[in-house]
Amino acid sequence: MDYKKLYDLALDATKNAYTPYSHFNVGAALLTEEGTVYTGVNIENSSYGGTICAERTAMVKAISEGHRRFKALAVAAVSEGKEHTSSPCGICRQFIFEFGDDIDIIFGSDRDNLEVYKIKDLLPAGFRL
Ligand code: THU
Repeated sequence: MDYKKLYDLALDATKNAYTPYSHFNVGAALLTEEGTVYTGVNIENSSYGGTICAERTAMVKAISEGHRRFKALAVAAVSEGKEHTSSPCGICRQFIFEFGDDIDIIFGSDRDNLEVYKIKDLLPAGFRL
């Protein structure tokens, strides 16, 4: 799948984010090696540490449905009605890295300004047991 299309799916997902505290809506779209897409959103909690990011929501949905091999993950964010660049946080980077070095991570200010990085480049010397 084209990465602009994957970003569009992430952007569309932002409408489902649950963000009563930050009002920063993040959407993720995860492309499996089989070609299926799982989306995810950030889901906040009044106990702030209980919040889950959009990237991990998408990963958890796919992994719990039996997927283990991923090609790419796109991230989009909307706040105050505007798109914002949003790259995966450190916890999400480590979570994604668990499932492969070469997963492409896509983000940018809009669909015409996307950057693509390998997860291993966003998390140099990531932890492995
Ligand atoms: N957030 C994500 O969903 N993904 C990230 O990689 C960084 C941050 C969310 C968490 C919180 O709901 C909001 O963005 C503001 O930090």
